[in-house]
Amino acid sequence: MFKRKDLLGLKDLTKDEITRIISLASDMKRKIDSPHLRDDSLKHSSIVTLFYENSTRTKVSFMMAAGFLGAKINDLGVATSSVNKGETLIDTGMNLDQMGINAMIVRHSMSGAAHVLARNVTSSVINAGDGTNEHPTQALLDLFTIHERLGGFDGIKVAIMGDITHSRVARSNVFGLIKLGAKVVLAGPSTLISESMRTLGAEITTKIPEAVADADVVMGLRIQKEREKAAPFPSLREYSSLFGITPEILKYAKKDALVMHPGPVNRGVELSADVIDGKQSVIYIQVKNGLAVRMAILQLLLGDRSAE
Ligand code: CP
Repeated sequence: MFKRKDLLGLKDLTKDEITRIISLASDMKRKIDSPHLRDDSLKHSSIVTLFYENSTRTKVSFMMAAGFLGAKINDLGVATSSVNKGETLIDTGMNLDQMGINAMIVRHSMSGAAHVLARNVTSSVINAGDGTNEHPTQALLDLFTIHERLGGFDGIKVAIMGDITHSRVARSNVFGLIKLGAKVVLAGPSTLISESMRTLGAEITTKIPEAVADADVVMGLRIQKEREKAAPFPSLREYSSLFGITPEILKYAKKDALVMHPGPVNRGVELSADVIDGKQSVIYIQVKNGLAVRMAILQLLLGDRSAE
């Protein structure tokens, strides 16, 4: 059973709930691949996207996921909305609530924004990324991809590398992977790793070969220049030479280790181009799986729960 009003983060989800989403996403992927299997089970649902930060993958895949399930979906278009006249997130949400919106999908630069919205509206709220806190649908699609490729999580080693401090993707993945039984090693320059991640159960190192050694999954993270207050390293060139994932670095991992990245990728910075386009890369498969996972999430939050 999945009885939540909102999807705000993996910190709150149980192992069973995560497993339920992964399992339903598998069914949804079959619907994507076979249009004759699609249904309009959410035809009575109205959804709105509120993206206060830029997005390609998350926003478009939610729009498509809603369409595949028959829901009506609109994008608020924050840049041209009354947000520019000073309307707050809560007031915006309360107004949309009055229009009978069933789900609001929100991305915001403030950590905790989705939680604040969820407390103030009767509609479901889905966190599409809040500041440096969580990006649950990205982590769920990462978990789905790992499960699809490796068959499970028990005892696997996942090395996550790059801008750990600013990464909501890393935080959500750490919560999820550890609940599911994986070992997580976080690596990057000391200026981009917060010691607090150790308390979540992850190991931390600044040595990339050590992080990647015998890993089943090697995940790069985008350098988030927009969130850095001071330069954490001298230049992107120096970063890529010391911390970039190259074919030489991949040799430390297991032979068929998966290469992942949430996107957008800074080509040649976090990952070399030949790694991004190489046979171990599942970066574009992650994007396709994002659609399946978001269909599953919409179905679980908005679908007829009495049918479960
Ligand atoms: N991974 C991710 O969140 O991508 P977008 O910013 O394009 O949505």
